[in-house]
Amino acid sequence: MRHNRAPLFETILNHAKNRVVSFHTPGHKNGRGVDRRLRSFTGRNLYYMDVTVFPEVDSLHDPVGPIKKAQQLMAMAYGVEHSFFLVNGSSVGNMSMLMSACRPGDSVIISRNAHKSTMAGVILSGVWPIWIQPKVDQNLDILFDSSPEQIEEALRLFPEAKAVFVTSPTYNGVAADLVKIKEICRARGKILLVDEAHGPHLKFHKDLPVSAVEAGADMCVQSTHKILSALSQGSVLHLQSDLIDVARVRKVVSMLQTTSPNYLILSSLDAARRSGGVGRGTVVGTGDPKR
Ligand SMILES: Cc1ncc(COP(=O)(O)O)c(C=O)c1O
Repeated sequence: MRHNRAPLFETILNHAKNRVVSFHTPGHKNGRGVDRRLRSFTGRNLYYMDVTVFPEVDSLHDPVGPIKKAQQLMAMAYGVEHSFFLVNGSSVGNMSMLMSACRPGDSVIISRNAHKSTMAGVILSGVWPIWIQPKVDQNLDILFDSSPEQIEEALRLFPEAKAVFVTSPTYNGVAADLVKIKEICRARGKILLVDEAHGPHLKFHKDLPVSAVEAGADMCVQSTHKILSALSQGSVLHLQSDLIDVARVRKVVSMLQTTSPNYLILSSLDAARRSGGVGRGTVVGTGDPKR
């Protein structure tokens, strides 16, 4: 498979170009029913790309065609075992990570500055959070995430914790020492989950901090739409773990996502990998670009 291909985007584009008459949802029927001012501003093509699930365009919940290939290409680009396309941002990714890696009653070490979707994940998964109070720089008005020392101490006090959940980079752009944190987790058999919503680009430049997948995180979530070129809501969940069951991740992600995914968002994830800096030039297929 080549990174200059975008199997899902190309499928949707070809379908749209064929101007197929719609007898399916969405109800706007290729834009015919859309408000006139909106349609005249955006043009008609957009609506021909806004399709529903049928064999030609594949299903996000049971991918066997272009969505499967696009996800495989994404996984190759990041060097992970599995990548899952998300259409409700990293928010649904954070919930999925906690719900698939943990069982109700498990405890998880989490920094108190985690995004609200992580709190939602804590509630939905039924885990016990063990909070780490992050360092605050009052002068710069910046929050840091958990340091390796704080995590080590938390694991000493709560050795039963199943996982460590880290946000890196933070909203302020502060990256955690994920290599050290992974060493700590590996030595104790703990799962490392990383909210990398603000870091989908990190893997692809040697001068940037080490990314979650390079550090060996078991799972991480990235907002491709925040930093790279996917449309809003387009995010990706990566999995590379001996400690987490891929079938469970697949089920949880499917359970939390809409059955009417927006194919423009999905296509934009595929296109972002091809041209938005994820799959370009020396970035992909060169092994570790940081070395
Ligand atoms: C650290 C962090 N994690 C997760 C999210 C949620 O990401 P999304 O907007 O893609 O759902 C945000 C959003 O701002 C965030 O700042």
